[in-house]
Amino acid sequence: MRQRAAFQSRFGFYMAAIGSAVGLGTLWRFPYVTGVNGGGAFVLLYIFFVAAIGLPALICELMLGKLTRFNIVGAFKYKPWVGTEKKWSWFGLLGIIASFVVLSYYTVVSGWVIHFVIQGIMGRFTEPNSQPGNIIDQLTVRGYLQVLLASVHLIITTSIVARGVQNGIEKTSRIFMPILFVIMIFLLVHSLFLPGAPEALRFLFYPDFAKLTGSAVIEALGHALFTLSLGFGAMIAYGSYLRAEVKLPSEAVLVAGIDTVLALCTGVIIFPIVFTAGVDSGTGPALLFKTMPVIFGTLPLGYWVGLAFFVCLYFAALSSSIALFEGLVAYLMDQRNLKRPQAAGVVSGVSFILALISAFSGSSFKNIRIGERGLLEIIDQVIINWMLPVVTLGIILFVATKVPEDVKKKEFVDETSLVTVRLYLTWLSAVKYLVPVLLVILFLVQVIIAFL
Ligand code: PHE
Repeated sequence: MRQRAAFQSRFGFYMAAIGSAVGLGTLWRFPYVTGVNGGGAFVLLYIFFVAAIGLPALICELMLGKLTRFNIVGAFKYKPWVGTEKKWSWFGLLGIIASFVVLSYYTVVSGWVIHFVIQGIMGRFTEPNSQPGNIIDQLTVRGYLQVLLASVHLIITTSIVARGVQNGIEKTSRIFMPILFVIMIFLLVHSLFLPGAPEALRFLFYPDFAKLTGSAVIEALGHALFTLSLGFGAMIAYGSYLRAEVKLPSEAVLVAGIDTVLALCTGVIIFPIVFTAGVDSGTGPALLFKTMPVIFGTLPLGYWVGLAFFVCLYFAALSSSIALFEGLVAYLMDQRNLKRPQAAGVVSGVSFILALISAFSGSSFKNIRIGERGLLEIIDQVIINWMLPVVTLGIILFVATKVPEDVKKKEFVDETSLVTVRLYLTWLSAVKYLVPVLLVILFLVQVIIAFL
């Protein structure tokens, strides 16, 4: 077998994989898409897609990485199974393109978070006459400042990934993720005591299906894939660093489960503040950045809580950026024979150039709009709602049809136990029938909505 880096411990893998899943998608995107799409029914659908499509697909991605010990493109070309059927690797290339584009806009939004950390240190959230929304409104029109902040984020990410799987990725995740969990629990308890809490809980957990539109269904699917980091190859890369003895279903359930619980917790943290402060729940991408500073102005110890929140948001953004970045580095190292530092440099350079587009989306490019949506949102929609389902479908079909049955079966805990065999068969029929059929139907619905 080829030599390859590996996670040092299971805990390290968990923290890195959960770090990849829990990111801006979970803490920033989930609340705002839920707000825009009307709450409860959307949340329910999102949970359904995570369980029915995301979880089986996550097992596929980790499995593909673990068995081939390659990146997303290399895994599709893995010789022992399929000879040289090159056509599959187009799915891989699509995943690489999606990763570059998402990394670039992710970098810009992570830059926003750095800005909020600095504002927190300067005490801006607790100034008596500070208006909710001022900080973000002023930031999104300042392109150069966003480029500067994004560069800082890229330098931090690059220097961590360049240090390798164990010394960079694993070490960072082991420190930051537990801190993030503790801060979130604290914020959750605080939000539950706000006057807007009952209305928020009703909004989040009472499904009103009349509010569900066709595009909300597509959004729920796209978000379920995005939040589990599926369709980019990041989880394939992380799977390729797993040791042979690790069994997959339990790892996937834990990663998907914790990510979903944290997304719901984020909803329970944000929406009581939204309703207490009277901010419009359908605000869109600025939602989190508008509501959170409000709470810090009114809290005892608001200065410290505010700072802690944005530091924690930054850890989440960083660990996800690292995963996206690593998927690309693995590709350049395996397929293009670059050394890790060179590969990190290339990813960083390309992402920087692409990030300029997002950074100027609120200023120089602000007239590029489709309806209500600005450039940043358009990029987000194209990648998440259109590309991710296609790449995920490719990965699932490949695992279902090309990976030999006995090889797949071995990845499930114990071949002699009845429960495990049943689990394996359920997963297999999901990836052979249910998931591909659902993905194709939803894709067609999307085409119909977009073009008719
Ligand atoms: N899952 C991350 C989030 O929710 C996004 C991400 C996608 C991270 C792909 C890594 C790879 O923010």
